[in-house]
Amino acid sequence: MKGLILSGGKGTRLYPITYTSAKQLVPVANKPVLYRVIEAIRDAGIDDIGIVVGDTAAEIQEAVGTGRRWGVKITYIKQDAPLGLAHAVKVSRDFLGDDRFVMFLGDNVIEGGISGLISEFRDSGYDSQIVLTPVENPSRYGVAELDPDTRRIIRLVEKPRNPPSNLILVGIYMFNEHIWEAVNAIKPSWRGELEITDAIQYLVDKDYNVHPYIHRGWWIDTGEPGEMLEANDLVLDEIEHNIDGYIDRDSQINGKVTVEKGAEVINSRIRGPAIIGQDSRIVNSYVGPFTSIYHHVLLEGSEIEHSIVLEHSQIIDIPYRIEDSLIGRHSIITRSPIKPKALKMTLGDHSHVGIL
Ligand code: DAU
Repeated sequence: MKGLILSGGKGTRLYPITYTSAKQLVPVANKPVLYRVIEAIRDAGIDDIGIVVGDTAAEIQEAVGTGRRWGVKITYIKQDAPLGLAHAVKVSRDFLGDDRFVMFLGDNVIEGGISGLISEFRDSGYDSQIVLTPVENPSRYGVAELDPDTRRIIRLVEKPRNPPSNLILVGIYMFNEHIWEAVNAIKPSWRGELEITDAIQYLVDKDYNVHPYIHRGWWIDTGEPGEMLEANDLVLDEIEHNIDGYIDRDSQINGKVTVEKGAEVINSRIRGPAIIGQDSRIVNSYVGPFTSIYHHVLLEGSEIEHSIVLEHSQIIDIPYRIEDSLIGRHSIITRSPIKPKALKMTLGDHSHVGIL
C-alpha cells in the first residue's frame, strides 16, 4: 500500500499564522501536524508516501526533505491550484499507479494512529474504507447518512446546510484502483472543487464496497486557531514527557512537562501538561497547563496558559496572564516605557487581539 498526504491548499483560515507559510507545518505539542501525519502512516507499515503540495511547496519540501529521518521515501506531487481533494488524487495518478492507498489530509490529527484501520482495510475485500466520527457541528464537514439497519452508507454530502446525521468524514480515506473511475466521472461542486465526497458517493452508487469505520476517539481538523489549541491540549496530554533541558533550583515543575534540550527554566513555575522547546528560556515566569512554547522563545516576567507560542518569539514583562492565544513566529510582546501611555501594535493581517 502507498500513502498520500494532502498538503496543498492555502490555509486562509489560520491567517495570519499561515500568511506566508503552510498550515500543515504549524506545530501541535511542538511537532508540526504534517510530521505527525507522516509518523502515523509510517507506524501503520507504509513507507512509500506521496505529498501533494501547492503554493507552499518549497517550505514543505525544506521541512520534510527525503523522508529518511522517518525511514520512509517521500515523493512530492505538485498541484497547480487547490481544485479539490479529488483533484489532488487525480494529479497523483503516476505516483499511485493501481496500488491501494490511504489518503490522509495533512492538517488532521487523530487519537491512536491508523495502524488498526490500515490492517483492517488490507485484510478486507473493501474497495474503499472511510472514517466517520460523530461531531456537534456537522455542517462544516462531509456528512454521511447510514442505513439504520444495515449500517451501510446511503448518502454522503459535503458541508450540507441541513446535515442528515452527526456522522462526519474524518480526513482519512482508503481506496483501491476503482477510485480512478470515480474521480474521472465527477464534476466540480458548487464551491468549484472536485470533491472526494462526490467520488465516494459515485463508488456507493455503483455498488462498490465502501466500508464506514466509526472512530470513537478524538480527532481534530486543525483548520482554525481554536482547533489548533484543542489539538494541542489533546496531544500534550497523550505524549510521553521528558526533561532534557536545565531547570534551576528556584523553579517548580508540576505534572506532565517536557523541557527540550538546550531550554532553560529559571525561577519559574511550569504546570503541565506543557512543553518548552529547544533553546527557549523561561525566566521569572509562569507557564500554565496546555501550553506549548516552541524553540528559541524568551518568556520573561510573564504568565501564559493554554496557548501556543511559535519560534523566536519574545514575551517580556506583561502584567496580565496571556490565555487561549496562538502567537506567531518572531512575535515580540513587551511593555513600552515610551510616553504617551498607549497600546502600540504591529499586527499581521486578520489578527485577533483581546484587550482588558
Ligand atoms: O477534515 C475533514 C474534512 O476535510 C471532511 O469532512 C470533508 O469532507 C473534506 O472535504 C475536507 O474538508 P475541508 O474543507 O476541511 O478541506 P480543506 O480545504 O481544509 O483541505 C484539507 C487538506 O487538503 C488541507 O491540508 C489542504 C489540502 N488540500 C485541499 C484542497 C482543496 C490540497 O492538498 N489540495 C486541494 O485542492
